[in-house]
This record gives sequence, structure tokens and C-alpha cells, in this order.
Amino acid sequence: MRGIVKRFGAVQALKGVDLDLYPGEVLGLVGDNSAGKSTLMKILTGAYRADAGTIYFEGRPVAIHSPLDSRRLGIEMIYQNFALCGNLDVASNVFLGRWPAARLLVDRRRMEQEAAKVIERMKFAFPSLRTPVETLSGGRQQAVAIARALAFDPKVLIMDEPTANLSPNASQRLLELVRDLRGQGVSIIIISHRMQEIFDVGDRISVLRQGEMVGTLSIADATEDDVLNLIVAGRRSRQEGGPARD
Ligand SMILES: Nc1ncnc2c1ncn2[C@@H]1O[C@H](COP(=O)(O)OP(=O)(O)OP(=O)(O)O)[C@@H](O)[C@H]1O
Ligand SMILES: [Mg+2]
Repeated sequence: MRGIVKRFGAVQALKGVDLDLYPGEVLGLVGDNSAGKSTLMKILTGAYRADAGTIYFEGRPVAIHSPLDSRRLGIEMIYQNFALCGNLDVASNVFLGRWPAARLLVDRRRMEQEAAKVIERMKFAFPSLRTPVETLSGGRQQAVAIARALAFDPKVLIMDEPTANLSPNASQRLLELVRDLRGQGVSIIIISHRMQEIFDVGDRISVLRQGEMVGTLSIADATEDDVLNLIVAGRRSRQEGGPARD
């Protein structure tokens, strides 16, 4: 993403932001509340349209004007509220809105087979694919939301605060899944306020501050303090005196 600008009335949410994502990497996207993280990702998924800037995908400029455009490129996003249908079962949610049909009847068998395949890829066990999702724990609901995204076989998977409502156990499982997916070549962007998680699972970390990209660090040679300094002050640390933005 290059030079992405987004205004909401008087608020300039993004002031010309650049973001890079490489194949098979996990990129942490961090920043204070209202820094513009969700807005930047919603532009990538076509939920919002940028006022200016260009998105390149596999080296070419692309037009992402709707969620469908981004899905066709292989970009999927898991929103914080999961956007599931609570009264429907696991398999139906994985294929929400595109149930395989045989003579106008939903082909349950095929749907369950396909859902089972995706869930197996996640190494996640469900007692039954016929359980209504509203009766599942937060961790399992999160897994259903991920399964739905994976059913599209994405190249890029965006997760907006995926562990915010998960138990410590479920959070660990989610991070393991992120590692597995990276191993399968999926590029992943994780928005999180939990720095430790990003340091656990991430390759690089990009920091937004008040609508500006203030830095991208390699996790291997950054400390949490470096990142906190970028978040708060827009520079890496006092000693190293990174690019000052004030
Ligand atoms: N649909 C909208 N209408 C008006 N203003 C918006 C809208 N979406 C975002 N904003 C504003 O844009 C700015 C960036 O918001 P955004 O949600 O992208 O921040 P964020 O980094 O995701 O924050 P958080 O960590 O709290 O989720 C904020 O000032 C926010 O109020
Ligand atoms: Mg947000």
C-alpha cells in the first residue's frame, strides 16, 4: 500500500501511509487507539475506499473497490466480532452465503465434507459440525470465523485483534494456527494491543501513530521498548534517535 489517505469528515484517519507485506510472513500492526489500523485494513479489504493512494498486489496496481474485489485477489479479513450467524451450525457458517446446492436444496453432505477439510487444515477439533455456533466458546467461534476465511484459500489473512476476547489457552491455540498458516505460505497481518503475542509469532511489526506510519521493525532485532517508543513518541528510542516526527 502506498500513500494511503483517508478522511472521515474533519478527521484525517490516514495521512499517506505505506505498508509492505511479504509472502508467508506474519506482520504485526500496532498503534494506539484511533491510530488508523482498522481503517487501513478495511481499505485493503474494500470495506472502505481510500481518498488517495495505490494498492499493489504481487507487483501490480490493483483496484479494490469492494470486498468482492479483495476476495478475488485472495485477501480475507476476520473482523473482531467474527460476523457469524449464531443460530446456524458450524458447517453452515463456514459456507455462509454460498452453500453448495444440489437441485435447489443445500447439499449438506458436501458442505460438511468441505467444512471438515478446512477445519482439519486448521488442526482444530469440533465435537460436531452440527452444533449451533452461539453455543460454542469464544475460541471455537473464532475458529469458525477463521475456517470461513480459509475456505477461500486466501493468500493474505488479516486478523483484527483476534485474541481480544479469548482465554489464554484459546489465544495460544490461535497463535499456533497462525504459525501453521505461515508455514503453508499464507501472509498474515495481525492487529493486536498485546505486544507479547506479536513478538511470539511475528516476523515484522509496523507501527501507526495518529494516521502516520512511523516505523517498521524486524522482530528479531527489536525490543518491546523500541515498539512502545514508536507507538507513543513516533521514534524508536532516545539512545538510537530514530526519525523524530514531532
Ligand atoms: N466509519 C467511520 N466514520 C468516522 N470516523 C471513523 C470511521 N472509522 C474510523 N474513524 C476514525 O478514524 C480514526 C482511526 O480509526 P481506526 O478505527 O482505524 O483506529 P484503530 O487504530 O483501529 O483504533 P483501535 O485500536 O481503537 O481499534 C479514528 O479517529 C476514528 O474515530
Ligand atoms: Mg481498530
